Amino acid sequence: MRRTHTCGELNSKSINKNVVLQGWVAKVRKMGGMNFVDLRDQYGITQLIIKDSVEIKNEYVIEVEGKVIKRKSINEKISTGEIEIEVTKLTVINKSLLTPFEIKDDVQTSDDTRMKYRYLDIRRPIIAKNLIARSKMNNVIRNYFTKNNFIEIETPIFGKSTPEGARDFLVPSRINKHHFYALPQSPQLYKQLFMVGGIDRYFQIAKCFRDEDLRIDRQPEFTQLDMEMAFAKKEDVMAIIESLMVEILKEIKDVSITKPFKQITWDEAIDKYGIDKPDLRFGLEIKTLNKIFSETEIPLFTNLDKKSIRAICVEKLIGKKELERLSETSKQNGINILGFAKFESNNWSGSIGGKLSNQEKLSLINEFNIKKPSTLLFVVDEYYKASKVMGALRNEAARIYELADSNKFELLWVIDFPLYEFSEEENRFVAAHHPFTMPQEEFLDSFDSDMLNAKAAAYDIVMNGFEIGGGSQRITDNQLQARMFKSVGLTDLQVQNNFGWFVNAYNYGAPYHAGLALGLDRIIMILTGAENIRDVIAFPKNSSGIDMMNDAPSKVDEKQLLELQIKLK
Ligand code: AMO
Repeated sequence: MRRTHTCGELNSKSINKNVVLQGWVAKVRKMGGMNFVDLRDQYGITQLIIKDSVEIKNEYVIEVEGKVIKRKSINEKISTGEIEIEVTKLTVINKSLLTPFEIKDDVQTSDDTRMKYRYLDIRRPIIAKNLIARSKMNNVIRNYFTKNNFIEIETPIFGKSTPEGARDFLVPSRINKHHFYALPQSPQLYKQLFMVGGIDRYFQIAKCFRDEDLRIDRQPEFTQLDMEMAFAKKEDVMAIIESLMVEILKEIKDVSITKPFKQITWDEAIDKYGIDKPDLRFGLEIKTLNKIFSETEIPLFTNLDKKSIRAICVEKLIGKKELERLSETSKQNGINILGFAKFESNNWSGSIGGKLSNQEKLSLINEFNIKKPSTLLFVVDEYYKASKVMGALRNEAARIYELADSNKFELLWVIDFPLYEFSEEENRFVAAHHPFTMPQEEFLDSFDSDMLNAKAAAYDIVMNGFEIGGGSQRITDNQLQARMFKSVGLTDLQVQNNFGWFVNAYNYGAPYHAGLALGLDRIIMILTGAENIRDVIAFPKNSSGIDMMNDAPSKVDEKQLLELQIKLK
């Protein structure tokens, strides 16, 4: 290479060296007949001094030769801040048009423009930093699993479409007319077959595809660390993943976290935090107040029937604007009335606060251990609905008052999940994780007759309020698997057509096994402090699933469709 150093490498030890640098022009300033130029590459920025007049503009790619000299005014913010280069020769390697937005971290442009010119966006140090962190994490993962005797095996991208789970992305087969492959939602079935195949410890950094609505932590195409272990139980998987997370946090953030991680049951998560992926960086625990208000005259809390009064206490006097924002959150989650009570120097006010009896006031102070000026938020509804709304309010209040420390990483396991959830859309029970998840031992007899209460041998790992992974003990007994399929409404024929190839394998001797998958995009999003998963994916889709850079998905040639015998109408 012609360059002797990168733009992030030189410091006071390099003074008097003759160097060659290459990079992009980040800034040109003229001062007293001299040009001060910031030269940027992936590694950093180096200041150049050019005496002659130059024909360079921002984002030109140049090469300079020159001598490293001590800088008069030191810039402590950058690693090269003690030096500058006195340029003796400058060559323009490549010119640039005026870029559609300035290449800097706090860029002022729409996300769609950034995505359209993603290659320019990646030039911004903040995005490059995310991609570098991602590469580092993959490296930690590969080293960790290899040293623990796991082997990395790739699984097909062209798979079989199966019911259950999210919608599939389909790929037509030209050779097999009217037949489609499905892109994998995860390597789940393949990794289970590795276990039947005698592979002891499997892992893969795997691309997964799901046709779902997008959110800040969801892309149609994402990456999992997928793993499975033979002759293993839940505790074995958890221990392996905990040590991995310790290494990832150490390597990427230089943060030490302690093992074992906290474990809470799904019931407790819903009861205290209203959500199965609680952010434990702040308290704001939810309480049920039916007892306190058992003899109340407050209209909202009377005639409860089977409803629950759920509440949190925020140690702030919530202002009008913020209350409106919280009311909106409540409405968006399906509850129109958000009650509130403000407490300050022994005075109560607010829609509920103004109506409290003395006994109720005392009980609330005790229940929430109120010591500072505070605002209580109340909702009333069926327990799970009220919990869900309170969970959303808890998170929103934390956002408003910045209660979550961005330098803190709170990891926990949520265990004892329900085996099923009721799908309103399909009017039937569906598997809460996937239908290959083992019911917990005490529910082996009853799981398909008492579906509401059955618990799964499944576990999720949560970090800072995001579900970063999930896994389970797998069903390895064909009769049990058949009961499971039947319970979610699959007929024998459907099972045979869709899963026959898979179920049959378990007739040939399988070890018991368990595994898990981590969402790598989400993990790196949290660790880099990115606000959206898009910022940690090199070429992401926008919220409508479109790649703004190349307009994919796009219509295809009629000839191509004819060849596939796909009719346009
Ligand atoms: P699950 O469906 O829980 O489990 O997925 C595992 C993890 O993958 C991440 N994830 C996503 N990340 C970004 N965009 C998405 N659309 C998306 N969907 C999921 C989440 C999630 O926790 N096969 C099982 C794992 C197993 O049982 O071993 C599975 O895929 O962080």
